[in-house]
Amino acid sequence: MDKSLSPDQRADLLLRQLTLDQKLQLMHGTGDPHEGPVDPHASESNGGSGFVIGLPEIGLPGIQIDDSAYGVAYSAGSGRYSTALPCNLASAATWDPLAAQKYGQMIGQELRDQGYNMTLGGGVNLAREPRDARTFEYLGEDPLLAGTMVGNLIQGVQSTHVIGDIKHFAMNDQESGRHAVSSNIGERAMRETDLLAFQLGIEIGHPGAVMCSYNRVNETYACENEFLLKTVLKGDWKFPGFVISDWLATHSTVQSSHAGLDNEEPENTFYGPAMKQAVESGKVPLAEVDDHVHRILRTMFAAGVVDDPPKKQVPDVFVHAQLAREIEQKSIVLLENRDHLLPLDAGHIHTIAVIGRNADRGMISGGGSAQVDPPGGNAIGDIPEAERKADWQRAIWFPDAPLAAIKATAPGVRVTFNDGSDPAAAAAAAEGADAVLFFAYQWMAEGVDLPTLGLPDGQDAVIAAVTQANPHTVVVLETGGPVLMPWVKDVSSIVESWYSGSMGATAIADVLFGASNPSGKLPITFPLADADLPHPKLITPPPASQEDWTDSDKMSLKLLQGLPSFDVTYDEGLKVGYKWYDAEHKPVLFPFGFGLSYSTFAYTNLSVTTGSALSVSVTVKNTGTRAGDETAQIYAAMPASTGEPPQRLIGWVKASLLPGEEKRLSVEIPLERLAVWNESGHRFSVDPGTYTITAGPDSRDQPLHQSINRP
Ligand code: BGC
Repeated sequence: MDKSLSPDQRADLLLRQLTLDQKLQLMHGTGDPHEGPVDPHASESNGGSGFVIGLPEIGLPGIQIDDSAYGVAYSAGSGRYSTALPCNLASAATWDPLAAQKYGQMIGQELRDQGYNMTLGGGVNLAREPRDARTFEYLGEDPLLAGTMVGNLIQGVQSTHVIGDIKHFAMNDQESGRHAVSSNIGERAMRETDLLAFQLGIEIGHPGAVMCSYNRVNETYACENEFLLKTVLKGDWKFPGFVISDWLATHSTVQSSHAGLDNEEPENTFYGPAMKQAVESGKVPLAEVDDHVHRILRTMFAAGVVDDPPKKQVPDVFVHAQLAREIEQKSIVLLENRDHLLPLDAGHIHTIAVIGRNADRGMISGGGSAQVDPPGGNAIGDIPEAERKADWQRAIWFPDAPLAAIKATAPGVRVTFNDGSDPAAAAAAAEGADAVLFFAYQWMAEGVDLPTLGLPDGQDAVIAAVTQANPHTVVVLETGGPVLMPWVKDVSSIVESWYSGSMGATAIADVLFGASNPSGKLPITFPLADADLPHPKLITPPPASQEDWTDSDKMSLKLLQGLPSFDVTYDEGLKVGYKWYDAEHKPVLFPFGFGLSYSTFAYTNLSVTTGSALSVSVTVKNTGTRAGDETAQIYAAMPASTGEPPQRLIGWVKASLLPGEEKRLSVEIPLERLAVWNESGHRFSVDPGTYTITAGPDSRDQPLHQSINRP
């Protein structure tokens, strides 16, 4: 308990006192209370996703673990309230690292309020496959943006003395067959894409834990993958924390231990009695166990969970709701605004038709283990009272209803509602209104990928009928990722609101009526069709075993062990997201980085100087009539000799500008942003050649450029 010592020194002192049984007790969980019986010694469990007992006999607290991607999960089970923030992908659309810190800090605070000291948030798998059911839990398709945002989120979480986590390491890029799929990819492509997002997140956020994923990587399970855990994570990146397995993602004792898995969750199949036997028979050296335990202990000291344990208290509901509203305002992306239909002027319009399933009741949220419980239960109310809490694989609508929010924002306007279930009735409801607000949704939840990016439940046909009846239609998208829009040319405006959290409808009304000027930019490309994706058809497990694969619930370990491997070969390699569409010369629906404002911005005068870093400056002027925020994006076109895709994001700078205001925006960009993985040298290096640095409002609109030479 001597706080003047470093976490490593404190861990060493403690480790020396421990018996083998005590050490092993720290290396595994005690069962998942949501999935069946837990270890009888786990009576101190807080009821979250997992629990490591700790060493109560010497006062070392247990690790109380909970899922908390966009807010604290499973709170209704403990009768406590959690604020749902906009989904993680939405937070990436802010391009605002400070907002990510606040996002993480709020989650950390609410975890503490509910008695937890470790999060399982921090998802940062790159959106290689946008139909991945967990796209909403991740931070988009660019490693720099995703890594920067997750690193800042982790900083926020850990500032509250909660152990931070980053997941799912690595290449867990689709859910289909996730327990056995082998993600196959070359080292360079992996290092510059998916791994780079983790590397940056770890460098910036210093998370206490890294969760290894279910899938195999190049044929070896991630949680027993020596290349990933030992060579890259603990070797090259010098990660000092501990590796925790995803729930039931451990498949061995000796191999996993040797590869660098420190903690098995949620049970002790491989790291309990089996590990003891392996140590006693010399198959696992004691030094290896000591390293695992050292990492767990040093993380507990470093995060502050020993010195400053959580105290249960009521979360600050009001302050956190305000934060959820502010982050959603910044997350919303205005994709289209023909004839400036938006913002709506409540003083000048008389009728608004609100159309869309459940738009009178709530806003949809992302499911799976990320699910945050809505206050009072599912707003659509089709769940029996006794089960009124979020559940695995059930679409949950939060009770902030668009209809009520619009009525409250425009009290003088006649607002009608139609549920959008029938195209003709919806068209009739739309006819003659001054504006139509169509709320379209696409639900996603862990385990089950989307078969297509198209909107479900025939919504496209309803939107088509509505726009024919009334072109003054605004489509508000409640989605966890990109969707296809066959009606894109027929509507007036399109607003991407993502899964918008506890205050979603309120924040959306703020934007629709102009109290807030939208500034979000897409962290992910919206393609024109599934056919344009690197893999036009989702790669699913072999048909014979499809039934076993339906991951509609967490599966038993026995079943998981028997699943045959199948391959997803990521032969697009470096070309993830915009890098794919750029390289393949494919037009897109809305490019990476894109987002409109109620104002307009002009870019002039790019200057780039090189030294130990790139100093980039650009002048941005607000040429509109409203104050607004703009995110200037800087990309680099690499020398042809590097064999890189046409451009990569290397930095950005976000600024608030009053009407007519002009600012010189500057950003220091480390030279590593230009680096490529050198396979023979086993390191990143910046090749000689000519680099073209560009600046502009999105990845396909880069009006300014300047070339630099690197000898
Ligand atoms: C998910 C993890 C989650 C864990 C615990 C797994 O199924 O993949 O993201 O943290 O369950 O709920």
